[in-house]
Amino acid sequence: MKNEQWLTDDHHMVNRKIQEVLDVMDKGFMDSDKFSEIEKSLKKHIYFEESVLFPALDKGDLRTHQMIEGLKMEHAALWKLMDIINGEIEEEKFLKTKKSLSEMLLILKTHNENEEGNIYNKIVENSDVDVFDIESLKLPTVFICEKLRNRRIGK
Ligand SMILES: [Fe+2]
Ligand SMILES: [Fe+2]
Repeated sequence: MKNEQWLTDDHHMVNRKIQEVLDVMDKGFMDSDKFSEIEKSLKKHIYFEESVLFPALDKGDLRTHQMIEGLKMEHAALWKLMDIINGEIEEEKFLKTKKSLSEMLLILKTHNENEEGNIYNKIVENSDVDVFDIESLKLPTVFICEKLRNRRIGK
C-alpha cells in the first residue's frame, strides 16, 4: 500500500505543478524552475516504473504486457514534450510550451487513471516492489525512457 499511495500522490503533485506553470503562463510568465521540478519528478517516476515496477509485473500475461507497452509509449510522448519545452527554455522563446504542457496534462489524465486502476493495485502482490524505497532512488543522468532509447543511440 505504501508505494501505491506514493505513486498516486506523485501523479497528483505533478499534475498540480503543471497546472500552476500553465496558470503563470496565462499571466505572461514562464516558471522555468517549477518546470524543472516537474521534469525531475516525472523522469524519476518514469525511471522507477520502467526499471522496477513494470519488469516485476510484466511476467507472461498478454493483457498486462500490452497495457505496459502502451504506458511506455505514453512515457515516450511525455518525454518528447518535455524535450520541446526544454528547447524553448534554452532559447527563451515560448511558442509551443503552453500547448506542450496542456498535452502533457491530457496524456497524464488517462495514463495515470490506467496505472492507478490496473497496475498500482498489483503492487501489494509484489512485496519487493512494495517495500522499494522510491524516495531514495537516484535518476541516472544518462537515463532515457525505454521507447526513445534505441532511437537516440548513435545520434
Ligand atoms: Fe507511468
Ligand atoms: Fe505513474
